[in-house]
Amino acid sequence: MTRELEGIVEGLSLSQKTISPKYFYDERGSQLFDEITELPEYYLTDAELEIMREYVDEMTALIGKTASLIEFGSGSSLKTRILLENLDDLAAYVPVDISEDHLYASARKIRAEFPDLDVLPVVADFTHSFALPSPAIMPVKNVVYFPGSTIGNFEHDDAMELLRVMHGEAGENGALLIGVDLQKDSGIIDRAYNDSAGVTAKFNLNMLRHLNRSYGANFDLESFAHSATYDENKGRVVIELISQADQTFEIGNTEFAITDGETILTEYSHKYTLEGFAKMASDAGFNVERVWTDAAGLFSVQYCTRL
Ligand code: TRP
Repeated sequence: MTRELEGIVEGLSLSQKTISPKYFYDERGSQLFDEITELPEYYLTDAELEIMREYVDEMTALIGKTASLIEFGSGSSLKTRILLENLDDLAAYVPVDISEDHLYASARKIRAEFPDLDVLPVVADFTHSFALPSPAIMPVKNVVYFPGSTIGNFEHDDAMELLRVMHGEAGENGALLIGVDLQKDSGIIDRAYNDSAGVTAKFNLNMLRHLNRSYGANFDLESFAHSATYDENKGRVVIELISQADQTFEIGNTEFAITDGETILTEYSHKYTLEGFAKMASDAGFNVERVWTDAAGLFSVQYCTRL
């Protein structure tokens, strides 16, 4: 059995069956996620774009001259382009992603759009520290960029570890510009993860299709249902697949039984209070220097400097 398959079997052997969110993103999953970001109910992308457009001048003033912008993620988003269009004297732009194909494809596009920019992609798992490239121009400081409230997809301890990795990569005088989704009326959050067109359900179920196609599993897609519920006490959306029957499935020659109503956990999406996130940032060695929110107060982008 490959190590990857072992990891999948291990997750499904837990008392709370779990599949890592990384299995959302095969080609179809990435397409479906792009569709999610365009849904009217999925407020996160619109709110973050609104903030970027409205406050990019304040952001670039804080980032300053001749910085190196290090994006955790491949950098294919519109948000990144807003920053790059307004930062005309970067020492370098360094997108970091584990998926080499995706990273190089998106770096190629960025180079075509910004021919004067030194684009230095790094293939790495950014949950662990990694070596930074040396740009031709010496950066005055490193600014880590982590949009999309992807931090919220990590459980507390893992989120802390990731913030500490960012702290290390930012280095002396470095900073972090991060998208952080906020706690709010539960109806708004519920609708964002249970859209009326059913795209989120398709996205969640696609994970089983991906495991069937690429890892020899035999899930019956018809007998699982999407579920996303906001736990207000824990401030997080719990995203699961609910078995619609007592049934068995197989992966890597291991057979699993799942009962009617039993769930497979596929992702958490944590929502923060400003105080809650500031505490995490400070525990990781950052000071939240500036917080921007959209007009409706749904989402935040935060500029944090090293303590
Ligand atoms: N990072 C996204 C989020 O937490 C991921 C996401 C959006 C997601 N919709 C989803 C994950 C539905 C699973 C199911 O908002």
